[in-house]
Amino acid sequence: MQNSVTVIAPVNIAVIKYWGKRNEQLILPINDSLSVTLSTADLCSKTTITADPSYEENKIVLNGKEENFDNERITRCVEMIKHRALESESCSKELLAYKIHVDSENNFPTAAGLASSASGYACLVYALAQLYGLKKQEISDIARMGSGSACRSIYGGFVQWQKGVQLDGKDSIAVQIAPASHWPDLHVLILVVNDSKKKVGSTSGMARSVLTSELIKYRVEKCVPQRIHSITQAIKDRDFSKFAEITMKDSNQFHAICLDTYPPCVYMNDVSHAIVNFVHEFNRNEGETKVAYTFDAGPNACLYLPEKYVKRVLAFFNHVLPNDNQNSVEYLRGTPVDIDEE
Ligand code: PMV
Repeated sequence: MQNSVTVIAPVNIAVIKYWGKRNEQLILPINDSLSVTLSTADLCSKTTITADPSYEENKIVLNGKEENFDNERITRCVEMIKHRALESESCSKELLAYKIHVDSENNFPTAAGLASSASGYACLVYALAQLYGLKKQEISDIARMGSGSACRSIYGGFVQWQKGVQLDGKDSIAVQIAPASHWPDLHVLILVVNDSKKKVGSTSGMARSVLTSELIKYRVEKCVPQRIHSITQAIKDRDFSKFAEITMKDSNQFHAICLDTYPPCVYMNDVSHAIVNFVHEFNRNEGETKVAYTFDAGPNACLYLPEKYVKRVLAFFNHVLPNDNQNSVEYLRGTPVDIDEE
């Protein structure tokens, strides 16, 4: 029996945002969300897990620094995976009894609104599944219990997280709506404006929004279902301008809700707002929508665009954005990615 595994998991960036839970404990969302899983070269988490009879305690090291293993979400993921492995007898009882050492690193800024928790928990849960002999189809709900958006990183390409209706959350799972190969020329540019940790974490931010925002109810009931339907169609048709318009409107609405939260959650900064204006200016100059922005719970921009515009957009942003020592913007490139099903 193999006692050590190493896996890599990609990030995903939502085009229809998940924001708000109906059940904090089970991490059940109030709306469906939809994301693109991105290539692992510039943006990924890598996790090694070793189980050994000589270990006296469980340990977790994140980006070279030892963290508390007894964190509720980590413990819950480990226990759920072990429970499932025990039930399905997918590995030996001895292996399940050994303590484990987890070593995980991201090759991009952690907790700065770049979906690090998504790839981090997807990676942890996938590595545990490999160690204990479970299949991929058995783990999206467990990844969700680590960090909601992590369930979408279990699949490649274009992925919808269906909120589900059941109280136990069994139907709150991620499903792939199209593989990455369906739209090969779609590219991503991440503009890292600021990689310091975000001020209000997504868990407390969304809890506060659910309690205090009036707009969030309107979004969940009237906007998201229609947007999920339309953007799914735009993806199927590879209709970039439709995809882009819905993506930008949903990012704007998500940040409007953050501002409608009391006290407000302010994630975008002046450079983020400048990027929004530049994207609209670029599209106006081109006479059609060629690039779309979206912002998670942080100031960094994620731009979706067809490959043939990458050079031109990079040149434009290099020209218009600040590039001195204090304000430089770093660019990361990516493409949608499929995940090896093995
Ligand atoms: O999964 P969490 O708790 O890190 O929340 C992610 C929330 C957003 O990134 C803002 C939106 C999303 O759908 O990924």
